[in-house]
Amino acid sequence: MSEQRDCLCADLDAASVDREVRLCGWVQRRRDHGGVIFIDLRDRSGLVQVVFDPDREQQFAVAESVRSEYVLQVVGRVRLRPEGTVNPDLPTGEIELLGLKITVLNSAEPLPFPIEDPDTGEALRLRYRYLDLRSDRMQRNLRLRHQVIRALRGYLDDRDFVEMETPVLTRSTPEGARDYLVPSRVHPGQFFALPQSPQLFKQLLMVSGFERYYQIARCFRDEDLRADRQPEFTQLDIEMSFVDEGGVMETMEEMVRSVFESVLSITLPKPLPTLTYAEAIKRFGTDRPDLRIPLELVDIADLMAEVEFKVFAGPATTPGSRVAVLRVPGGAALSRQQIDSYTEFVKQFGAGGLAYIKVNNLADGTNGLQSPILKFLPDDVVQQVMQRSGAEDGDLLFFGADRARVVNDALGGLRIRLGHDLDLVAQGWRPLWVVEFPLLEEDSEAGRWVALHHPFTAPHPEDVPLLDSDRGVVRSRAYDLVLNGTEIGGGSIRIHQSAIQQKVFEALGLDEAQAKAQFGFLLDALRYGAPPHGGIAFGIDRIVSMAAGEESIRDVIAFPKTQKASCLLTDAPGEVDAEQMRELGLRLSSAAQTGSKTAD
Ligand code: AMO
Ligand code: AMP
Repeated sequence: MSEQRDCLCADLDAASVDREVRLCGWVQRRRDHGGVIFIDLRDRSGLVQVVFDPDREQQFAVAESVRSEYVLQVVGRVRLRPEGTVNPDLPTGEIELLGLKITVLNSAEPLPFPIEDPDTGEALRLRYRYLDLRSDRMQRNLRLRHQVIRALRGYLDDRDFVEMETPVLTRSTPEGARDYLVPSRVHPGQFFALPQSPQLFKQLLMVSGFERYYQIARCFRDEDLRADRQPEFTQLDIEMSFVDEGGVMETMEEMVRSVFESVLSITLPKPLPTLTYAEAIKRFGTDRPDLRIPLELVDIADLMAEVEFKVFAGPATTPGSRVAVLRVPGGAALSRQQIDSYTEFVKQFGAGGLAYIKVNNLADGTNGLQSPILKFLPDDVVQQVMQRSGAEDGDLLFFGADRARVVNDALGGLRIRLGHDLDLVAQGWRPLWVVEFPLLEEDSEAGRWVALHHPFTAPHPEDVPLLDSDRGVVRSRAYDLVLNGTEIGGGSIRIHQSAIQQKVFEALGLDEAQAKAQFGFLLDALRYGAPPHGGIAFGIDRIVSMAAGEESIRDVIAFPKTQKASCLLTDAPGEVDAEQMRELGLRLSSAAQTGSKTAD
C-alpha cells in the first residue's frame, strides 16, 4: 500500500511548473466555462484549481459528472495560470493543474448546507458537525487547539512535569456544580460521579511523591450553560509540590506567556499585574475584570451618609451595602432613551434604578449639571462627587446604591456594556492575576457557608484562627488568571494537614462523620506525609476560543453540546431500553416518563 497521492494542494507554486502530480481531495467548487471545466480541489492543506479540457474526452466526461464534495484523485501537470487569471487571494493562485486523469473515489449527496456559508444556523451545523468541520474556519480553530495543547505539553515536559491520567468513573469532587452520575450495575443502587475536575487525584499524586503533574483532563459539570461553559470541557490540570503561591504563579505565567508567544505571536506583559479580590471588586465590581475597558467604580458612601435622598443614604449607612459612581467619559451625549435602556439593563441584576448626573459645564457649579436627583443632594456633596470621580465636562455619572452584591453586579455589568456600546474596549490582551479571595462565602438561600473555590484550598495562615469566629473574612491562598474579562485559570495552595482540612470541612458544615464518609481517603492520605503542594487548572476551550477570536467555546470543540446539554449529532442523551434499566436496578418516575426529550 502506498499513499493515493504524492503531494498536497498547497505544496504547489510557480516552482512546481511542469511537474506531474497526483492529488486527492474534495470538490470545493466546479465551474463549467465555455467548454472547459474548472474544479477547485481541496485537501487539508488548501485549494488548487484543476482544469479539464474537452480534448481528453473520457476524463472530461468524468469531470463533468462531479458535484460539490465528491472525493477525487486527480493526476495533472502544473502550469502557470494565463495572464489576467492569477488569483492573489489564493496561496496557489499563480498556478493551476492541467487535469490528465480523474478518478472519483466517492460521490456525495447534495449537502444540507454549503460548507463555507456563514449564515448556516448552529443547530444545523451541529447536526452535521462532520461537514461543518470541513470549513476553513473550523479547520483553523481545531488545528490551533492542537498547537496550543502541543505547546503546553512541550513546555511542561521540558520542566519535569509528568502527564498522568486519573479516573473518569469516580466519586463526587465538589467544584460547585451538579454531578453527572453513572449507575453501577455491579453495585445496584450505587453510582459513580464523573469528575468535575481531577482535583483530589492530583493531590494524592503529590502525596505519592510525583511532585510535578499535569493532565489534559476532561471535566464534567451539570450546570447552567453559557457561551463559555460546556457540560464537558477540557482543563490543563497542574499540581506541584514544595511551592508557595509565587512558585505556581511564576511557572504558570511563564508557560502562558511562552505559549501565547510561540503559537499566537502575542506578547503578554511581564510580569502580569496582580489585583487582590477586594480591589478588583472595588474598582470593577467583579473578580474577573476586563482591563481593556477604562471605566472604574468609585465609592461615595461616606459622602452620602447624611443626605436627604434615602435611595443613597440608606445603603450608605447599612453594613454590606455600597454606594458607588461610574464615570462615563463623553456620556453627557447619551439620550434619555439610551439612559432608560441602561436602567432596564441594571434591573436584571436586582438594581432598583440607575440615578445619573450629566456634567455639562463644571465651571458653572450645580447649574452646569443636569439630573433628576440634584434637588435631593446638597451642593457641597455634589461637588465632592465631581472631584472624587474625576468628572469632566461632557461626562455622565451613573450611580448605584444597594446591597454590595447588587451594586457590583449592576455597575460591573454596566461597565462592560458601556465599554462595548461606546467603543471604549482597547485592542489587545490584558491578563491579570486575582489573589486573596475569601475562603468561604455565605450561601444565603441555603443558609450555610460554601467554599469560594473548593474545600481543599488552604486558608491564609494568619487567618486560620478566624475560621471559628469570623469566617467571612478568612482569606484563601487561591489565585485566578483572568484574560480580557474571562477567567481562564484558577488554582490555589492546598491544605496539606489533616487537622486543618478537618477544620475547613467543619466550617462548611460537614461534621466529622460526614467528612469521613465523603473524603476519608483524602484525610487519611494527608496523615501519611503529604508534602506542601498547590496547583492550578486552565480552561483550554476558553483559551483557544479567545485566541481564535470566537465568541463561543463550542467553536473550538470538535463535537460540542448545545446550550441544553445535548448532542445534536448523535442525539444524546437518549432513552435506554427496559432491559438495561432492569440490570441497573433503575426505574423512571412518571414525571421522567412523560417529560421525555425537550427540544433544543
Ligand atoms: P475551576 O473550577 O476554576 O478550578 O476550573 C478551572 C478552569 O476551567 C475552566 N472552566 C470551564 N470551561 C468550560 N466549561 C465549563 N463548564 C468550565 N468550568 C470551568 C475555566 C476555569 O478557570 N480543581 C480546580 C483547579 C485547581 O484548584 O487546581 C478547578 O477545577 O477556565
Ligand atoms: P426615585 O426617587 O425612586 O424616583 O429615584 C430617583 C432616581 O434614583 C432615579 O433616577 C432612579 O433610577 C434612581 N435610583 C433608584 N434606586 C436606585 C438605586 N438603588 N441605585 C441607583 N439609583 C437608583
